[in-house]
Amino acid sequence: MPRAPGKIFADGPRELAEALVAALKAPAEHHDIAETLTHGFHSYPARLHPATARVLAELLADHSPEGAVLVDPFCGSGTTLVEARAAGLRAVGTDLNPLAVLVARAKTWTVPVRKRNEMRDLGHEIASQALAAGKAARRSGAEPAPQRKPKGFDPNARNRRLASWFAPHVRRELEMIAMSIDEHREDDVQIADVLTACLSAILYKVSSRASDTDTTWVPKNVPRGAASRHFAQRVELLHAGLADLGRSGGPPDVFEHDARRLHEVVPDGSAGAVLTSPPYAGTYDYAEHQRLRLDFLGLPHRGLDEGEIGSRRSFDAAGPVAERAWLDALTNSLRSIGRALAPGAYAAMVIGDSWAGGRAMYALDDVRSSLDDQLGVAAWASQLRPMLGTGERRAFEGRAKAEHVILLQRR
Ligand SMILES: C[S@@+](CC[C@H](N)C(=O)[O-])C[C@H]1O[C@@H](n2cnc3c(N)ncnc32)[C@H](O)[C@@H]1O
Repeated sequence: MPRAPGKIFADGPRELAEALVAALKAPAEHHDIAETLTHGFHSYPARLHPATARVLAELLADHSPEGAVLVDPFCGSGTTLVEARAAGLRAVGTDLNPLAVLVARAKTWTVPVRKRNEMRDLGHEIASQALAAGKAARRSGAEPAPQRKPKGFDPNARNRRLASWFAPHVRRELEMIAMSIDEHREDDVQIADVLTACLSAILYKVSSRASDTDTTWVPKNVPRGAASRHFAQRVELLHAGLADLGRSGGPPDVFEHDARRLHEVVPDGSAGAVLTSPPYAGTYDYAEHQRLRLDFLGLPHRGLDEGEIGSRRSFDAAGPVAERAWLDALTNSLRSIGRALAPGAYAAMVIGDSWAGGRAMYALDDVRSSLDDQLGVAAWASQLRPMLGTGERRAFEGRAKAEHVILLQRR
């Protein structure tokens, strides 16, 4: 049974507070937006709901000058970048996760129709070749599957990590697809990256991993040829989404970069708006969630392993020390955002309360206490969220748990 939407509280000037309330209500009222443009192309944990992103991107577009740049320092899979483009804004995204960068770039790829079609045709050709090679291998018996050796990865260790997750015939097809993409990399690195994102999008579906956020091994009966067919479908889905997105807003720049050092890619005072959703304290482990994809695709991820803020593993390992580290990271991220924004410009942030390392974390309080004198809270809206289990209920000690949209303004 669908859950009743949580009660919403808000504060701030009426027009702003109403827009924030609309942003929180949007997923229930306009759920279909999640299937439009390139939003449905690739799963990503704690993805911002596209309907929320749309309301906020439009609010920010209304309050920023013509030609303003919207920045998302924690852009993840690029939901805000897609919506910024659709709202006609130029956008810049950063994220420490190399997979997020790959996906966000693919979802906002802005090229002439001819080139987009080239990507689609090549994707189909690669899928057909992998399918044919799989059939031939079956006829000729037990030939070992070809395996790539991505630079920077110990091939034996990588093999051991991947071996249990894919049936041998599936692994063969996936390696064939990845190898063919690599062969085209020298001709056109952009098309190769976009096709790699398409391959990434189907990896968990054909693996024995339960989901992005659940590493349980589950038996899956993936038929021969299924990986190639899923890959071709994903190419088609992205191609259609990119066509719908058209060329409005221009291509965003997406950098693999730490949000706390935004000034290295966004000049001080140059951002007309920020729209972002940082990690929720102690809730997700982006490095762990993507480990199988990062291993398979051969994407180096030391920056994410070392620089991910608010991860669950950090709270599990370090308890109260992690809480201090989280508040420091939040302070530095907000300082970075304040520095990037033009005077008077707004930053909209979506963030939720959480149960981290056995403690209740109140995101609105944490943001307020982490602000320096560059940024002030202009308005906020909070929607009550259900408690997930007795541990969480006990930690919150009768206080409500909520998800917040906070509008900050640069002084
Ligand atoms: C809530 S998710 C953002 C999801 C995104 N809005 C979307 O719709 O896909 C938070 C993101 O913060 C990233 N992240 C964590 N620590 C970071 C850091 N220090 N600098 C930049 N990004 C970081 C994670 O990789 C993750 O993609």
